[in-house]
Amino acid sequence: MSTYRQISLFPEFSEKTKLSNLVNVASVPQRSPFRYPGGKTWFVPTFRRWLASMNTQPRILVEPFVGGGIISLTALFENLVEKAVIVELDDEVAAVWEAVINGAAEWLANRILAFNLTKEAVLEELQKTPATKREKAFQTILKNRTLHGGILAEGSRFIKHGENGKGICSRWYPKTLANRLINLNHVVSRIDFRNDDGLKVMAEFSTSEEAVYFIDPPYTAGGKKAGKRLYKYHHLDHEYLFTICESLKVDFLMTYDDSEEVKQMARRHGFQMRLIPMKNTHHATMKELVIGRDLSWLDELNAVQEPETKYWVKELKREKS
Ligand SMILES: C[S@@+](CC[C@H](N)C(=O)[O-])C[C@H]1O[C@@H](n2cnc3c(N)ncnc32)[C@H](O)[C@@H]1O
Repeated sequence: MSTYRQISLFPEFSEKTKLSNLVNVASVPQRSPFRYPGGKTWFVPTFRRWLASMNTQPRILVEPFVGGGIISLTALFENLVEKAVIVELDDEVAAVWEAVINGAAEWLANRILAFNLTKEAVLEELQKTPATKREKAFQTILKNRTLHGGILAEGSRFIKHGENGKGICSRWYPKTLANRLINLNHVVSRIDFRNDDGLKVMAEFSTSEEAVYFIDPPYTAGGKKAGKRLYKYHHLDHEYLFTICESLKVDFLMTYDDSEEVKQMARRHGFQMRLIPMKNTHHATMKELVIGRDLSWLDELNAVQEPETKYWVKELKREKS
């Protein structure tokens, strides 16, 4: 069973940080071949609850910013939806999804198993211009597993020390990776992958009565810099994204960083918000903003709080005066 731990958002005012339950990320099967910056493995239990709260099981899940894809993969493996439409703009990340979709999962798995990983071998491999999509996919996996934080964006450096001082090899688990890739063959026929702009694909499905959306856009936290460090594509018209969300026929669930700008946008568009504080695999505290039309299904979870915004407080003051 998944568990949560509540963390006070205003510790100076609370008597004690109330402990209840904590999401156990280890209980979520790791299905993605990526270690993805901003990956949503920890959000899987909440995502499952969202789908379970619906009166009708949706047929299609659209994930317009798929990255490592743990949410869509979970939905497919657990038969929560029939089909997933997943979108990613980054051509390197896309190469992996495309290779898998086009039947090269086993080839990739064998390529990984046969690779003798040393820093020199990685450098030599990454200097090559990939002749095929599958070679490009292999290079992406190699980078994702040897660069600090799995970050593919420009300026990323190799892992120096890593786990137990294993340096560049510390995130290279060839057998696990190969198994995950081969396992994807079980759901591959139900994936519609697009190397495209997520906003465009959302608009395409906006009138569908069968589609729901899990939306995890590149972040703006810490100004434009944070998003830029993590992803090659980090510019996004967030206002337009919110406008599209308003037009969607069925439901959506959006996760964002806890930023004032985002909260104001959500209020302007009439959406509800909750703040989910939790610990990630590295025991670091994360506060994630969840946005949707009706989030009452989230209120039974202890770890959820309606965030106060400076904007909202100002509005209340204005009302009172
Ligand atoms: C926060 S990450 C998603 C992480 C994902 N939820 C996971 O669990 O791995 C956002 C992703 O959106 C991608 N992206 C940025 N702009 C995009 C766009 N306009 N269309 C599609 N993908 C985009 C980035 O490359 C990045 O992979």
